[in-house]
Amino acid sequence: MTNREPWSKRHKQVSRGARFSLSNSFAQPLDSKQLIELARARGDHALVEMFHEHSLEYTPMGGSLDLRSQIAECYGAHITADNIIVFAGAQVALQTVARALLDESSHSIVFSPGYQSLQDAPRGEGGQMTTIHLRPEDGWQIDLTLVEAALRPETKYLVINEPYNPAGTLMSAELQEQLVDLAERNDLYVLSDEVYRLLEHDSLDRLPAMADVYTKGLSLATLSKPWGGCGITIGWLALQDMELRQKLIDVQYFGTACPSRASEIQALMVLRSSDEILSRNLVIIRRNLALLDQFFEAHEDLFEWVRPKAGAIAFVRFKGPLSSEELGVELARVSVSIKPAYVFTQDLQRYGDYFRIGYGEQAMPAALEAFAQFVEEHEEAWRDQRASVRRG
Ligand SMILES: Cc1ncc(COP(=O)(O)O)c(C=O)c1O
Repeated sequence: MTNREPWSKRHKQVSRGARFSLSNSFAQPLDSKQLIELARARGDHALVEMFHEHSLEYTPMGGSLDLRSQIAECYGAHITADNIIVFAGAQVALQTVARALLDESSHSIVFSPGYQSLQDAPRGEGGQMTTIHLRPEDGWQIDLTLVEAALRPETKYLVINEPYNPAGTLMSAELQEQLVDLAERNDLYVLSDEVYRLLEHDSLDRLPAMADVYTKGLSLATLSKPWGGCGITIGWLALQDMELRQKLIDVQYFGTACPSRASEIQALMVLRSSDEILSRNLVIIRRNLALLDQFFEAHEDLFEWVRPKAGAIAFVRFKGPLSSEELGVELARVSVSIKPAYVFTQDLQRYGDYFRIGYGEQAMPAALEAFAQFVEEHEEAWRDQRASVRRG
């Protein structure tokens, strides 16, 4: 397989048209009508008017000042509007950073399993890359001794994802401090994919944004996940390093340099109602997580997980006789979609039993019910099969 193959998208063929989704990673999607109602309820009629009457000129490269100022409010004193770059979604930012920062002589460190672009974007620039495999027995936590061991004189770039997709786990603030210390000592840029930040199930677990605590840190965020605004297609980077910011703007120039103004205004609508949207989404997430707790408790001989702490995703091990790929195919037949291990890694030897479930949506209980019905229909046969393998 080439680096440019979107291997993480293969499941879309399998579960196309499934009625019951357990595969999305975002919180309950918003719609435009709701956004406008929220703006009106806040008395923000000027923003609604701006949405209906805005000019279709190009927006400024890197995003308009009003949106960048609003985004900067999500961060501490080091981050102002000048430290923000707006992108047409977070994925574009990942490719842009790799292009701006890396060349054939640079070495990067990434983690797997994970979102494909996090693992692959640095490789696209022709440099060297070390992939560190996260382990369920470590609670999917980064082992800094493995990072130290992977360092080379030419190591320039470390890419982390906390809260972590696919498991929804989160590093401790202490581990984050140690990681920043290691990065500082070795002069590394750290891209911290924080697209599930603000969806911590307990807000006390929230980590500081990397851009706030490290001068060579980049925090990546998107409207797609916590706010359920995937269709707005707005993501951003926050960073202190103004020299790198200019390089990023220069690379961005050859791609989607100017975000859509309609999207920018919708992004303003979302961020100005952020507390309300996030608390509504966390109510749904906590309710759905409680259902998963009950389900996994009742089926602990067939499934295990490291219980997630953030986001709307969990990485679950199936202990029955099918690989997660086979399980995905069987579930698609009853119109249920999950994300098998191959969406997050090509090392199926090691992770082939795992699959990701998403539980951010209002309709998740119906999907879990369809999943549970499928399990109930097969569990006896799976247990018998397992027993005969043991006897054999
Ligand atoms: C970890 C991670 N980073 C980045 C992205 C990309 O987000 P966007 O929809 O803004 O491109 C995703 C989307 O699934 C993701 O899971």
